[in-house]
Amino acid sequence: MAKISKSAAKERIEALSAELERHNYNYYVLNAPVITDFEFDLKMQELQALEAMYPDLARPDSPTQHVGSDIAGSPAQSTGPSSEGKVREGEHRLNSKASQSEAFPEQKGPAQRTKFEQIEHKYPMLSLGNTYSREDMLAFCSKIEAEYGSTEYSCELKFDGVAICLTYVDGRLKQAVTRGDGVKGDNVIDNVLTIKSIPRQLKPGDWPREFEIRGEIYMPWSAFEALNAEKEEIGEQPFANPRNAASGSLKLQSSAQVAGRGLDCVLYHLLGENLPFATHGEAIAAAASWGLPTSEHSKILNGAEAVVEYIDFWDTRRKSLPYATDGVVIKVNDLQRQRQLGFTAKSPRWATAYKFKPEQALTPLLSVDYQVGRTGAVTPVANLEPVPLSGTIVKRASLHNKDQMDLLDIHIGDWVYVEKGGEIIPKITAVELAKRPAGALKPQWPEVCPDCGTPLVRDTDEARHYCPNRTGCPTQIKAAFVHFVSRDAMDILAGDATIDQLYNLGYIHDFNDLYILTKEQLMALEGWQEKSCENFLGSVERSKGVPYERVLYALGIRHVGKTTAKTLAKSFPGIDDLAVASQEQLAQTEDIGPIVAASIADWFREESNRQLVEKLRASGLQMQAVAREKLSNALEGKSIVVSGVFSISREDLKAMIEAHGGTCPGSVSGKTTYLLAGDKPGESKVKKAGQLGVEIIDEETFYQLIGK
Ligand code: IVH
Repeated sequence: MAKISKSAAKERIEALSAELERHNYNYYVLNAPVITDFEFDLKMQELQALEAMYPDLARPDSPTQHVGSDIAGSPAQSTGPSSEGKVREGEHRLNSKASQSEAFPEQKGPAQRTKFEQIEHKYPMLSLGNTYSREDMLAFCSKIEAEYGSTEYSCELKFDGVAICLTYVDGRLKQAVTRGDGVKGDNVIDNVLTIKSIPRQLKPGDWPREFEIRGEIYMPWSAFEALNAEKEEIGEQPFANPRNAASGSLKLQSSAQVAGRGLDCVLYHLLGENLPFATHGEAIAAAASWGLPTSEHSKILNGAEAVVEYIDFWDTRRKSLPYATDGVVIKVNDLQRQRQLGFTAKSPRWATAYKFKPEQALTPLLSVDYQVGRTGAVTPVANLEPVPLSGTIVKRASLHNKDQMDLLDIHIGDWVYVEKGGEIIPKITAVELAKRPAGALKPQWPEVCPDCGTPLVRDTDEARHYCPNRTGCPTQIKAAFVHFVSRDAMDILAGDATIDQLYNLGYIHDFNDLYILTKEQLMALEGWQEKSCENFLGSVERSKGVPYERVLYALGIRHVGKTTAKTLAKSFPGIDDLAVASQEQLAQTEDIGPIVAASIADWFREESNRQLVEKLRASGLQMQAVAREKLSNALEGKSIVVSGVFSISREDLKAMIEAHGGTCPGSVSGKTTYLLAGDKPGESKVKKAGQLGVEIIDEETFYQLIGK
C-alpha cells in the first residue's frame, strides 16, 4: 500500500472502522449483509495495512482486533447503523430482507425479544485469518515450515454457516452457544436439539468427561431453496444466502419452527483440558467415532504443494456439494505445534483460510422489468446482455427492490457484476462505474402498477413496493389462482396456462368459480379434450377433501404459509373461529406474531373474503379441522399400506384413509387389508403383499371405496 500522511490515515482508519462495524452488525445481527464478503475482506485488509503503517493509530477496539458479534444489542454494535448512515436501524439493505415479519422473526431488527441465555465462552471463540491469494497461502506454509520443517496440515472445507460451540458433559449435550462477540454468546440449545445430526447423547466411547466441540450450523441448498420458495409464496423477501438463512433460523424463538428448517451441522474443532490427542486429525476422528458429525472431505496432507492441490480440487468441486462453502481452511495438524504457535488477538497463528473468489460475470444492463407477484409485491428484474456464468447463460438478474437499485446507483447501459449466490435468479452485486456510458439514465421506478395502473404503495416496515389492488389487478388475481390450485394447496390439475386461459375468457373471478365450471364449458375451449376435462374436473372434485389447514393456506392470506396455516388450524379448528378472532387473540397464539395476526384479521374483515369463504363452504370445501377426521366409516377396520407415487401426496392419501376410518401402517403384514399402490411402489412391499395374499389396489379403486 502506498504511504499516506498520518492525518489522512487517521481519517481513513476512523471511516473504515465505523463502516466495518456497521457491516459486522448487518451480517451477524440482521443476517442481511449489504456488501459481499469479498468487498468486506478488502476493506478489512485496507484497515490492517493502515494500522500496520501507523501502529499508534490502531485502536484497541478496532474491528481488526475483535470478531463481529451476533448478539442483538451487544456493545460491539455501538457504532452500528446510525441516523446519519443511509440506513435506519433495523432496516435491511442490499440483497436485503427488509421484512420485519413475525412469520419469519429471524428478520427482525435488534429490538427483538430473546429467550436465549448469554453464556461466557470457556475459551474465546476466535475467527480465522483469511486470504484470497495463493501467494499468501504459500507464505503461511513457508513461515510454519521455516520453523518446524516438514509439516502436516489438516485441509478442510470452509463451511459457510454459523459458528456454534457445543459442550458435552458425561456424554450428554449440555449447551450450544453461538460465537456472540467471541467472549460470550447465546445459548441456543433448544434450537440445536432439533438438528438431527447432533447427538444429545454420545455413542459409548472413551470421550473426555467434559469437552467442547466447535463447528458450523448450516442450511443445505435444498432446504434453503425450499424456505425461500415458501417465503416468496407468502410475499416475504427471500434470504440472500444459506448462511443468513441458517443464522436467522438458529435465532428463532420457536424451536418447533427451527425443526422445520432442515438445518445441519459439521464439527471441526475439539477443545478441552488435557485431551489425549497428539494431532487435530486424531481428535476429529475420535469425535466422529463418538457419533458427532464431522466432514468426510477433510484430509491430512504434507507440505504446501499438497495444500494447493487440495484448494484447486475444491475450487471447482465445491459447486456440486449439497451445502455452501466459501473456501478451504488449513490447520497445522500437530497439537503441540498449535500450542506453540498460539493466537493473535483475533485468530490462531496455526490456521488460516483460503477464500474462493465468488464467480462473477461483467455484462451490460439492457433494461429493467417490474414484475408483480401474487401478493402485489413489485420486484425489479434486470435484463442483461446474455453472459456465461458457472455453466449457464445468464440473461436476467434480480435487483430485489428500489433500495437496492438506489444503493447500486444503477443506470441503464451500465456494466454490472453478476453473481450466483445459490438463488435461482442470479443477483447484481456491483456496477463498474468506470464503464458507465455518457448520458446513461437511471431506470424509472414505476409510480403505478405495471399491470393495472394502480398507484404503488411502500410498506412502512419493508423495503418493498406493493400494488394495493389485490382484488382487481389481473396479475395478482391470476397468481392467487396459481397458488390456490398448487400441489401443496388444493392440488387442482391446472397450470399457469390454464389459469391464464380461464381468467382471460372471464370464466374465473374468484376461487369458487373453479367449482362451478362444467365439462361442456371446458370442452368448448381451445386445447381441451375429453380426457383433460375429466382430469381437471376430477381434481377439482377431489380437492373438496383437502384438509382445512391446506384450504387456509390456499386462500393466500398474506404471511400465512404452510406452517402458519397448520398452526392456525390447530388453534382455530374451524374457519368460523378464525374469522371472528380479534387481532389480539390471534397474536396470543403460539408462533403467530402481530404482523401475521394483523394480516389475518384484515383478510377476514373484508366482506368479499367472508363471502368467498361461504361460497367455498357451500361448494363442499373443508372448513373444519375435525370434520376431516370423521368423513365416513367406509374404511372402518381396514388397514391400508400406501406405497408409490400418486396424483396427490402420500400424506394426503393417508389423511383421507384416516378420515374414512381406516389405518395406514408403514409395512405390510398379515393384518393388512390392502396395499394401495401408485406408480413405482416399493418392491419389497409388493413382494410381501404377494406372499401374504394381501389385495393390491390402485388409486382409482381406493376412491371408489370411499365413494368419491
Ligand atoms: S476452525 C480458531 N475450520 O470460518 C478458529 N473454522 O471465517 C477455528 N469455519 O470462525 C476455526 N469452516 O466459523 C474452522 N473447517 C473449518 C471451518 C471454519 C468454517 C468458520 C468458523 C470460523 C470462520 C472464519
